[in-house]
Amino acid sequence: MNVRAPKGTADMLPPVARAWEYMTRTAQELFARYGYEPVYTPLFEHTDVFVRSIGEATDIVSKEMYTFEDRGGRSITLRPEGTASVVRAAIEHNMVPTGSSAKIYYSGPMFRYERPQKGRMRQFWQIGLEALGMPEPSVDAEVIAVLMEFYERIGIPRENMRLLVNSMGDAFCRPPYRDKIADYIRDHADSLCEECVRRAASNPLRAFDCKNPGCREVMSTAPLLRDELCPECEEHYGAVKSYLDALGIAYEEDPSLVRGLDYYTRTVFEVQADAGLGSQNAIGGGGRYDRLMEEFGGPATPGLGFALGFERTLLALEAAGVEIPSHPIAEVYVARVDSSVALRAFEIAASLRSAGIASELDHQARSLKSQFKQADRLGARLTVIVGPEELTVGEATVRDMLTKSETRVAIDALPAHVMEMLGA
Ligand code: HAM
Repeated sequence: MNVRAPKGTADMLPPVARAWEYMTRTAQELFARYGYEPVYTPLFEHTDVFVRSIGEATDIVSKEMYTFEDRGGRSITLRPEGTASVVRAAIEHNMVPTGSSAKIYYSGPMFRYERPQKGRMRQFWQIGLEALGMPEPSVDAEVIAVLMEFYERIGIPRENMRLLVNSMGDAFCRPPYRDKIADYIRDHADSLCEECVRRAASNPLRAFDCKNPGCREVMSTAPLLRDELCPECEEHYGAVKSYLDALGIAYEEDPSLVRGLDYYTRTVFEVQADAGLGSQNAIGGGGRYDRLMEEFGGPATPGLGFALGFERTLLALEAAGVEIPSHPIAEVYVARVDSSVALRAFEIAASLRSAGIASELDHQARSLKSQFKQADRLGARLTVIVGPEELTVGEATVRDMLTKSETRVAIDALPAHVMEMLGA
């Protein structure tokens, strides 16, 4: 049997898993302050949910989805992202009746069959949020503010990040611009890679995202959507920037930021962090998708949101030297002098745990010396030593693992005494 995890996946062991929980907790507290509520959708959906929202011609749909037929002959896909599922659920459960709004967040694993490299996994973890039912530009700025505040709170220095913003236009101004770029690609076909030329027909704007230096150069002189936005989109984009300015959030306008999902309209944004990351430097991104619910067959409902990638955010945190706050596995270790007191030691540990004190005990009849070592390894501040002699008078010894000082304490008073010593 192959005991290695599949390519592009990683086991989340305690230090990393603790970082994940820390990030999730931070996000939960922060998002709640902005009125977001949690939602958990299935890890897989009918394939159509992703094809119709993310777009057939995108890399995600055309080559990265984990799609299979289930035993009932249905085409099923492991979710490559969270937005499509949230929108599907919002329609199914009528979460945004006409005229109302909903603020939703989610976290969990996503799946994309990509070539694994630093910061790029086949199973990766996202935390994301979606604001449904609100077309106003102030909401765009608020969503971006939440994302930036999240990074700041977990400790990524602002100077390590670049916030890029752009407008993708809407159903009026984007199609003619798309055609213009398709023509531009055809006119420059000789200097572009095969894929970009192929994209002229299916998804021309993605040529802006090509990493090939030759393509980059050609695309750097292509017409920009910024110059062709309709007045409404222009006004929306201008207002988003004013709100960002009002919040003191620094951003860079990147007219070539197109993002890899087809559902976007108007505002798109991405946060890049170079320190600690290679070419996969987008630690989070998102945008507005005002037509997506309608395209799904739901009521016309605007929406926008973001998702941040856990693995890349962690790399950015490591590069910034941020220590993930951790707490000891056990605050108190219950040691026993010999096995004649095993039952009492077991009861004492249980009483400490019932009092809310993280406690561990020896199950393996180790020597007292190795029990102390274990207590240190677990980070215990105190060790309660249970011995037959003290037990006869209903007492145990509490040892401070730092100062090594010891006190005899009545067993009935142990939880209260320990709590006082821990300063709880
Ligand atoms: P996305 O840009 O495809 O957007 O993904 C968001 C973040 O997920 C990226 O910035 C990156 O940090 C992380 N990520 C993506 N692919 C991988 C991978 N293969 N390995 C590791 N991390 C990865 C979305 O998913 C949209 N649903 C965001 C959104 C929400 N737009 C509106 N609402």
